[in-house]
Amino acid sequence: MSSPLSQLPPEAFAKEDARDDAEFYAEARLKTHIDDAAIAALTGFYRQVLPPGGVVLDLMSSWVSHLPEEVVYGEVIGHGMNAQELAANPQLSRGFLQDLNRAPTLPLDDASIDAAMICVGVQYLQQPVKVLADVARTLRPGGPLVVSYSNRCFPTKAVAVWRDIGPQGHARLIELYLEAAGFTGIEVHRLRDGRTSDPLTVVMGRAPAP
Ligand SMILES: C[S@@+](CC[C@H](N)C(=O)[O-])C[C@H]1O[C@@H](n2cnc3c(N)ncnc32)[C@H](O)[C@@H]1O
Repeated sequence: MSSPLSQLPPEAFAKEDARDDAEFYAEARLKTHIDDAAIAALTGFYRQVLPPGGVVLDLMSSWVSHLPEEVVYGEVIGHGMNAQELAANPQLSRGFLQDLNRAPTLPLDDASIDAAMICVGVQYLQQPVKVLADVARTLRPGGPLVVSYSNRCFPTKAVAVWRDIGPQGHARLIELYLEAAGFTGIEVHRLRDGRTSDPLTVVMGRAPAP
């Protein structure tokens, strides 16, 4: 059966601000995009699903990765748009810069990572299925991809479909992205409902066997 995503017109993945993303991210933003309670909930979730000792990829990262401090990972690879932000992130072992809207293929070997995360960034992807399919390629079979989102974003940089469907549709949209990218065992977890802190939802899938 074809994905409902195939019925979306190309404009669904357009942005109001069509300028190069590199321009927008040229200035370092050393601030957090979700509040402390939402971060604590995400860190708790990472503690449960990311394998200690494993190689972890923080895609669309910045100066914070929200990983539990007491857990030792084999390696934490960061990816982002701003060198100063990645250099300021104490949890990264190494990092690389790449505009995923221009180049959706990651410079990582097949089945070379154990887990991946995208925190409050998925709404900026103009080719989400290509990017997530490439994350699936780099994950070892069964490895989790944890995609989280809240209720804030840079609206001029979010794709039209994200803005148009509104908060009730975001989890389903990410599920569709993950399904189309080949992920299995997809689960939605509402970590914070937004009443006493920023809302935070996780949509997680697992890389398929090759
Ligand atoms: C709101 S920040 C979130 C940063 C971090 N994950 C966090 O939890 O604070 C959105 C991030 O998405 C990433 N991003 C946005 N547009 C991108 C693009 N075209 N290609 C690659 N990454 C992009 C950048 O790394 C940017 O820092």
